[in-house]
Amino acid sequence: MAQSDGTTAAPRLLIVSNRLPVTIHQDGDEFTVERSSGGLATALSHPHAAGNSLWLGWPGSAYESDADRRRLTRLLRNTYRFSPVYLTDEQVQRYYYGFSNGALWPLCHFFEAHVVYDDDEWEAYVQVNRLFCDAVAAEVRGDELIWVHDYHLFLLPDMLRQRFPEARIGFFLHTPFPPSELFRVLPCREVLLRGLLGADVVGFQTFNNLQNFLYSVYRVLGIAADMNALAYEGRPVHCAVHPISVDPNQFINALDSDSDTLEESRRLDEAMADRKVILGMDRLDYSKGIPGRLRAYQRLLGAHPEWREAVTLVQVAVPSREQVTAYQDLRRQVDELVGEINGTYGTTTWTPVQYVHRNLPFAEICALLRRADIALITPLRDGMNLVAKEYAVCQKERAGALILSEFAGASSELGEAFFVNPYDTEGMAARMHEVLSSSDEALADRMGALHRRVCGHTVHAWAQKFLDELASVQTQRTPCALNDTAQRRLLVAYAKAEKRVLLLGYDDVPASSVERWYHTAPGADLLDALQTVSQDTRNTVAVLSGRDRDTMENWFGSCGSILVAEDGGWIRESPQAFWRQTLADLDDAWKTTVRPILEEAVTRTPGSMLVERGHSLGWQYHLADPEFGLWQAHELYGQLQALLAGSGLQVQRGNKLVEIKWAEIHKGMLGAQIIAAGADFIMAVGGRHSDETLFESVPPEQWTVKTGTGFSRAQFVLPTTTDAVALLQTLAELSA
Ligand code: G6P
Repeated sequence: MAQSDGTTAAPRLLIVSNRLPVTIHQDGDEFTVERSSGGLATALSHPHAAGNSLWLGWPGSAYESDADRRRLTRLLRNTYRFSPVYLTDEQVQRYYYGFSNGALWPLCHFFEAHVVYDDDEWEAYVQVNRLFCDAVAAEVRGDELIWVHDYHLFLLPDMLRQRFPEARIGFFLHTPFPPSELFRVLPCREVLLRGLLGADVVGFQTFNNLQNFLYSVYRVLGIAADMNALAYEGRPVHCAVHPISVDPNQFINALDSDSDTLEESRRLDEAMADRKVILGMDRLDYSKGIPGRLRAYQRLLGAHPEWREAVTLVQVAVPSREQVTAYQDLRRQVDELVGEINGTYGTTTWTPVQYVHRNLPFAEICALLRRADIALITPLRDGMNLVAKEYAVCQKERAGALILSEFAGASSELGEAFFVNPYDTEGMAARMHEVLSSSDEALADRMGALHRRVCGHTVHAWAQKFLDELASVQTQRTPCALNDTAQRRLLVAYAKAEKRVLLLGYDDVPASSVERWYHTAPGADLLDALQTVSQDTRNTVAVLSGRDRDTMENWFGSCGSILVAEDGGWIRESPQAFWRQTLADLDDAWKTTVRPILEEAVTRTPGSMLVERGHSLGWQYHLADPEFGLWQAHELYGQLQALLAGSGLQVQRGNKLVEIKWAEIHKGMLGAQIIAAGADFIMAVGGRHSDETLFESVPPEQWTVKTGTGFSRAQFVLPTTTDAVALLQTLAELSA
């Protein structure tokens, strides 16, 4: 929207997360609202603070009386621009504790054995996603960005897309995305993936998560990514890596000038004056690796008596999801381990593990992060782990060391940390000993680098980058569905036109069988329609295909259309004419070099085959294991690209096909020749990669229609070839 000063205002933002970033306390009719300091809450506080936004989420309790809900809603909306989505206790039980945290959370963190799948909980998950959809829908005006967060709301992007096809919807996953082998164990895997693909931009913490997601989409839905973008229902879904960060100033300001934080720091310095402090700070979650960390510390004290009474492990464990059995078991396990270590090694003046099982005030968190000599961050799996980054920020003037699990998302950015495998107790104990024995100078270099890196990539930049990407998708939407209204316009234009050109790509490869691709002749419905439109004297009709001349002649010879074979290599201008080669004197000696490479790929990949057509060679893998086939296609494509650079030959990726052909020969070249004779109605239809050049040859104000899924230069999309045949039949009726 243009402003009076000529600048463009940021679009309105709807943030949607399971939880609102607040804890609400109720005392009779009074509500007090306390801001949460969690990662997601801080991450979105900045874009929310900018003013033009509304944040929708669950307020954390049921508030079942209407009067309470009205009062609380008014308070949250008017004071904070939060819009509560109320859930009943039963919904919370099934959707939040159940499917979200009993099935999705463990699966996303690779804990297959913890996954509990229950149909009723899944139903509740669908129902609550729908509730969120209704809540968001009530706020949509049409020009906003909608940003959905985390695994609780996987279905929401598509639910919103169904209602608002033009909306700009982003999704960010704060947790890891599991490998396809794990993700596919969920019976509802397809619905979940389709849910996410409703978004325009899907963001992940790491490249690895992104890859896992793309592979799952490929395995489950058969859609392959092209440069990290997926073509889904006629629009691109951009998948990107956006590692989340922290707000350094929040910590630095507190450490520099907040009186509570300064006081807390002084207190800690005094109490821990003669000790090295190792800090663990997590939600009490089994993904955080707290028992393994305690065992490693126990090993350290056992193997290196010199550290007894010289170090203290402060373990802060914030209570979390206490109604889920796995969390209750973990709590017991941690309590026992802490007791065991303190019982074994503690003295009257020294407690080896200081265990805090509650939420700490921000001042105490900052002071601990500043004072700790080591942050021991050893999750078994973590989306990012912001404590690692917060620690680097708070070590501004100190030389602490970060011991970090290689399975935390943060490990891909924080290269100066001391890495550990959280499953290796011995290794972790050895790392602690190594770091405790290191000189301050050696540690200061590493910490300095970490501090600078984290401070240079703030959470505000993270949010801005994601939203910029989301805002820019508006102009990229292509193509759109050829719906009833568009079809009516097309038919009117056809009926009115005096001179028409129809360019029909005939190649769609049936999804499951190469056999069918070779031997299935066009149906009578298509041939009849084709004959009728070809006989209309106002029409010039061409059928363009990748197949050879004989097949084209056998199938379409009597329809009266222009025929083009071998993707533009040959043309037969009328039933009376001979076939003519479009470019003469092409030397196909290159095939001697390329053929053995393709033959090797055939040997390596069961279910694949070599396809030769006139001047082209191809490797087709329709019947191969999809994942392995795709993998081999990537390899082959790269190898051939390098080999054929500058040769005038082109390596193309088609539908389960890698093809090598002359760059100069394509359907578009012939399309342009046919169109050049002049027409006031032009329509090109096709579903293969090679039809893209055909679409390019058509002037933009005319009609281009892609069949099936995939990116396209076409303006419109029809879901199947059957729809395209039906369209041709309608044109035939108008002609007849
Ligand atoms: C993780 C999730 C967040 C969640 C937070 C706290 O960081 O990615 O979405 O809000 O844990 O968990 P809780 O279940 O208390 O909201």
